[in-house]
Amino acid sequence: MNVHPAVSNGAYDVARIRADFPILAMQVYGKPLIYFDNAASAQKPKVVLDRLNRAYTSEYANVHRGLHYLANTATEAYEGAREKVRAFINARRPEEIVFTRNATEAINLVAYTFGRERIKAAGDEIVLSIMEHHSNIVPWNFLRERHGAVIKWAPVDDEGNFLLDEFEKLLTPRTKIVAITHMSNMLGTVVPVKEVVRLAHARGIPVLIDGAQSAVHLDIDVVDLDCDFYTFTGHKLYGPTGIGALYGKHEHLTAMRPFLGGGEMIREVFEDHITYGDPPHKFEAGTPAIVQAIGLGAALDYVSSIGKARIRAHEGGLIGYATERLREINSLRILGTAKDKGPILSFEMKGAHPHDVATVIDRAGVAVRAGTHCVMPLLARYGLTASCRASFALYNTREEVDGLAQALIKAQSIFA
Ligand SMILES: Cc1ncc(COP(=O)(O)O)c(C=O)c1O
Repeated sequence: MNVHPAVSNGAYDVARIRADFPILAMQVYGKPLIYFDNAASAQKPKVVLDRLNRAYTSEYANVHRGLHYLANTATEAYEGAREKVRAFINARRPEEIVFTRNATEAINLVAYTFGRERIKAAGDEIVLSIMEHHSNIVPWNFLRERHGAVIKWAPVDDEGNFLLDEFEKLLTPRTKIVAITHMSNMLGTVVPVKEVVRLAHARGIPVLIDGAQSAVHLDIDVVDLDCDFYTFTGHKLYGPTGIGALYGKHEHLTAMRPFLGGGEMIREVFEDHITYGDPPHKFEAGTPAIVQAIGLGAALDYVSSIGKARIRAHEGGLIGYATERLREINSLRILGTAKDKGPILSFEMKGAHPHDVATVIDRAGVAVRAGTHCVMPLLARYGLTASCRASFALYNTREEVDGLAQALIKAQSIFA
């Protein structure tokens, strides 16, 4: 694995890392862009953009079953990307990695197949946490609406800490699956998922982990976690849109019925019956997102060349500094101060709607997200309907945090 020159001498040369991201050099409204909307989607380094270009200009054809040079080249690159995903989350074998459009599609896949089969009778239970993104609520709600499943919610305390004991109390003989985020996209809370899996497995309950946020920042080892399913999404990981991944234990993927039907996922089709392929192709109906998968592979290589531990140290410094700076601003209330949290900082300003705050600081070039963040039950837990969120990436700087603080002080003078 290549080591990025920005970290090769033990330092973290953020200026050099920033130079990899063409978009970061742009100005908005005549001000340097400060991009703090990374938890929604991250910017792309040039190696990823170049890889996409190369795939289209010199390696492009449809994958699998090809009997010509380009089909073979494209297939090798696409399957090579699967191997990169496997290594990134330490799955045992590439057949355990299914390419999906995003994390949302991966969760739907599990809910419609594995989840549906496990809900045998009205009253069977699904345990989620109150922090779930709508992507990890709505697919389970379909099972509630259509098949009488009951959804139970694992709580958090006022600081946003996940309450493991309370979670354990929710597990009953009727619990059919636990589906839980690894890192809250609003509070940043890191859920002790290894413990969650242990408690659930002790009762024979399978666990899906939504890794949309955690895969970006934490080292992921699905064998160590022993989770049944793990999902993540490429665009938050510096990769292209339109590509995500589902990890599933091989025995589950083999036993599960297919999700979408079409080409690629079948073995043989007859007038009166059809046989299906093996995982992962059984779950990849139709022409896949070939180039996007290849681009994701390049993004994972990029992240690995810097190193998650170094990235975490850098981002940890930023969130610590940002928390201090924002605490100095009287009208702000920080939401989510869990003991173990990722680089996500949500806040509200007294007397101002989050949309107005985001709109005002946008004029200073600062991009944050404001709204529900697709976590309406979590907002309701704190008596809110919206919040502002600044989220940090491997290319952000302390100077940018100062820019955010200055913009918020100005906003405060308008609203307070
Ligand atoms: C925790 C979490 N889960 C799932 C998703 C869904 O990701 P995608 O929209 O790429 O499917 C997101 C995106 O914001 C997220 O933050």
